[in-house]
Amino acid sequence: MDYKELAKKAVAAKRFSHSPYSRFRVGAALLSRGRKLWTGTNIEISTYALTICAERTAIFKAVSEGHRKFRAIAIATDETSFTPPCGACRQVLMDLAGDIDCIMTNKHGDLRVMKVSDLLPLAFGPENLQRRKPPRKQPR
Ligand code: THU
Repeated sequence: MDYKELAKKAVAAKRFSHSPYSRFRVGAALLSRGRKLWTGTNIEISTYALTICAERTAIFKAVSEGHRKFRAIAIATDETSFTPPCGACRQVLMDLAGDIDCIMTNKHGDLRVMKVSDLLPLAFGPENLQRRKPPRKQPR
């Protein structure tokens, strides 16, 4: 699947956005190295802070189904500009997906591709915790 197609999946995912408060619809499509696809939308909660972004919905779906190797994530909104992932999502993507390609698509279907490391330079990550105790390898 090329990035244009992946972006289209993100656009389609936007349809299920639950965003009655912001009315800002976001769709995400995450591609694994094994070419599997997960989509996500933003889901807003009346207490606002419990809202989850489209990107995190998609990656949590994938990780919760046992997948850990990713290639790219596409993010779509209804804006004319490119919407970048929020800070929280950048950290989650770096931790769980690593330095994958992040494809932003606007309402015209134009694409902009950036690496997660460009969006989150000098990221804190699991390796910063290793002087304490290495992360436990979990049985799979
Ligand atoms: N949002 C996302 O889904 N992803 C982002 O990276 C930026 C923000 C959502 C959260 C909230 O529902 C709405 O957009 C406005 O912030």
